[in-house]
Amino acid sequence: MLTLSSTQLDQYAKQGFLVLERFIDNATCDRLRTRAMELVEEFDPTGISSVFTTHEQSRVSDDYFLTSGDKIRFFFEEQAFNSDGTLKRQKAQSINKIGHALHDLDPVFDDFSRNHRIQNLIERINIQDPRLIQSMYIFKQPHIGGEVMCHQDSTFLYTQPNAIAGLWFALEDATKLNGCLWALPGGHRSGLKSRWIRSESQAMHFEVYDSTPWPEEQLVPLEVPKGSLILLHGLVPHKSLENRSEYSRHAYTLHVISGLSQYPAKPHIAW
Ligand code: FE2
Repeated sequence: MLTLSSTQLDQYAKQGFLVLERFIDNATCDRLRTRAMELVEEFDPTGISSVFTTHEQSRVSDDYFLTSGDKIRFFFEEQAFNSDGTLKRQKAQSINKIGHALHDLDPVFDDFSRNHRIQNLIERINIQDPRLIQSMYIFKQPHIGGEVMCHQDSTFLYTQPNAIAGLWFALEDATKLNGCLWALPGGHRSGLKSRWIRSESQAMHFEVYDSTPWPEEQLVPLEVPKGSLILLHGLVPHKSLENRSEYSRHAYTLHVISGLSQYPAKPHIAW
């Protein structure tokens, strides 16, 4: 499939997300998975205990995380450590994600991310002069895979005007059991609830425009088979729950913005 049908474009416009099954073949999924495991194998965790959490306090104070926008760095699951700081499991079963410049710095992910099919797709959803701004490899480890709380990507990757999309590639089957994505149909039309910005004192904080809680009961699960691509509008609220199953839920994500929009020279890294 090289492009999107008008029906698919209508779905994306109406819901703020679109599921494209079998977008990539199994061999491609496995190539990315193998490469991610090689990167983890090469990673020396000595002295690094940065955890990926969607709890604000940790993120704000974690320089290893905040300065990872143009690097390949490794973040642990929140529940990966014993109370004495040692890992409960092998390193390869403890990493939450790799971020945030795989698309620039690793040849395998670079090659995959700069594929013409992907560029065509992005242009079809009206992101002109698309720029890859961020990539993540997410493991959602068996038993300890952490929750990602409901959010809009535009909170973290803000452009003016808003022109952001997330591409979420399922490298394994994603189900309710192992922590699939959930999204709010039509939620992208309600506007941006908050923005994560740097204050004059250089501390990160949320500037809140709408403090009403997310209508979480209205989010729908996006269970997809391996090889699927989920397109997410930058304003659509989405989340994923903990993984307590015995199955991992590997995914690769890209965030793209329009080169015609105004955006910070160093965009803030997103969930
Ligand atoms: Fe997100």
